[in-house]
Amino acid sequence: MILITGGNGQLGTELRKLLDEQQVTYVSTDSSEMDITDAKQTRQVIEELKPEVIYHCAAYTAVDKAEEESKALDELINVDGTRNVAEAAKAVGATLVYISTDYVFDGAKKEHTYKESDTPAPLNEYGRTKLLGEQAVAAIMDNYYIIRTSWVFGNYGNNFVFTMQRLAKSHSKLTVVNDQFGRPTWTRTLAEFMTFVVQEQAPFGIYHLSNEGSCSWYEFAKEILKDTTVEVAPVTSAEYPQKARRPQYSVMDLSKAEALGFVIPTWQTALSEMLSESKADVTKVE
Ligand SMILES: NC(=O)c1ccc[n+]([C@@H]2O[C@H](COP(=O)([O-])OP(=O)(O)OC[C@H]3O[C@@H](n4cnc5c(N)ncnc54)[C@H](OP(=O)(O)O)[C@@H]3O)[C@@H](O)[C@H]2O)c1
Repeated sequence: MILITGGNGQLGTELRKLLDEQQVTYVSTDSSEMDITDAKQTRQVIEELKPEVIYHCAAYTAVDKAEEESKALDELINVDGTRNVAEAAKAVGATLVYISTDYVFDGAKKEHTYKESDTPAPLNEYGRTKLLGEQAVAAIMDNYYIIRTSWVFGNYGNNFVFTMQRLAKSHSKLTVVNDQFGRPTWTRTLAEFMTFVVQEQAPFGIYHLSNEGSCSWYEFAKEILKDTTVEVAPVTSAEYPQKARRPQYSVMDLSKAEALGFVIPTWQTALSEMLSESKADVTKVE
């Protein structure tokens, strides 16, 4: 049996869709069914279900709010919540798949991609708590996959692609940061990798997984809006201040995932597939 935490989030929803397609049965939970900050409830649910695999997609993900107003909540969900899930997973002998982030790195390496073995040094609270989550998982259990990903987009939640499309409806010009570089990741590619490592019984440990290729947010926005008349203009991070500091260069090395035989599409291909899926969904609704 498979258990998903955060099953209604953007990744959790994509994963459910993929498992449905693969005809794999699972139980998906949200915070009302299994609040991961509640150690007792988490233990009870997991001991009752006795899953062999737990895909832990639940997290606090509002990067800027995590700096101040939701600092305690971010820590509670990403650190204590993850510890609760890992302890319960260990108690029933489940394999845990924990999703982490490129924001565990400070981006100071510039021009050199980040390997799994590179030393993390998070610049913001979200990165710090996701790293503490990683450390809790690794301290508690042996049979885990920590998958670090970045710049996640997909059809089932709020993300940069939808934000750009929404803003494009009411603006003729958009300014987007052109001095932060990373790799966009389609939830579909990530969900496929999550099931791949489990099904192929890949060696346990840390993996980096994003789509192939890299870009700045400005370049990402240009690609998203390439079929529109909206002008996209580059700005610096200094011109667009945000609460949380972000790494300037958090491009992760994907060779460990690729060495398993997992084929990773480029972010442009992934984006184009995601957008055609989203158009198909709209057509269905209409
Ligand atoms: N989004 C990105 O760009 C990005 C980048 C790098 C890494 N990641 C990582 O990727 C994973 C998936 O992210 P996502 O984009 O799918 O996030 P998301 O859309 O924000 O979903 C997070 C889910 O976590 C659930 N959750 C929050 N607090 C909970 C609690 N106390 N107990 C149980 N569930 C709780 C939420 O469910 P409720 O609505 O029921 O509260 C929500 O469905 C996370 O680990 C995230 O850190 C994301």
